[in-house]
Amino acid sequence: MQIQILPSLLAADFGCLRAEALRAESEGADSLHLDIMDAHFVPNLSMGPDVVRMCKDALHIPLSVHLMMTRPDQYLINFIEAGADSLLIHIEAECDVPKALHRIHEQGVRAGITVNPDTPAQMIFPVLDTVEEVLCMTVHPGYGGQSFISEVLPKIRSLRDAANQNDQADLDIMVDGGITDETAAACARAGANLFVAGTSLYGDPDMKQAIERMRRGACEAFVS
Ligand code: DX5
Ligand code: ZN
Repeated sequence: MQIQILPSLLAADFGCLRAEALRAESEGADSLHLDIMDAHFVPNLSMGPDVVRMCKDALHIPLSVHLMMTRPDQYLINFIEAGADSLLIHIEAECDVPKALHRIHEQGVRAGITVNPDTPAQMIFPVLDTVEEVLCMTVHPGYGGQSFISEVLPKIRSLRDAANQNDQADLDIMVDGGITDETAAACARAGANLFVAGTSLYGDPDMKQAIERMRRGACEAFVS
């Protein structure tokens, strides 16, 4: 299983976003994660398609775009045209989620389903075999810098087990929120293979070493 590390641009210095996006790429990020917040699904507002487009123009690594939006269906095309390589929508969104996932695929983009900490894994089982990625939130979405919620670990394991039983052994399971070396290893043990980290990577004086360390720890801990 491929282990990947995705710095979250939300934790970057917004005074020099382009340089911060380039820094993640040059320090060894596998992908860059962009958090889109609509001040409705979550209380916060963050960035829109123009920031995705700026990153697309600057970088060569894929862009993982996480839509924390009540109506992601109304904006899919904006983010796809801006250059998203994968689009993550929430199962808690107020739209026809299977249809939105289908529309993402129609545009040749990877589709992911996201589940909040309080939402049971069973909610996403009906769409599991239609996605390339599952994002298991390990904090309540809306802000960077929160503490990891360890109660989510059994849910990650049940999703990995369900994927294995579904003949989807290659399903990417991503975790996002409060990810550090320790929590990344715990999630890898539960079956996660994609790790989004904002504060712990952008906040480290040596991002390259921090990415390598997180990747190595997760590789050693991963249980399929
Ligand atoms: C939370 C976002 C995360 C956030 C993670 O709502 O989805 O991607 O940037 O930040 P840290 O790693 O600081 O918890
Ligand atoms: Zn995110």
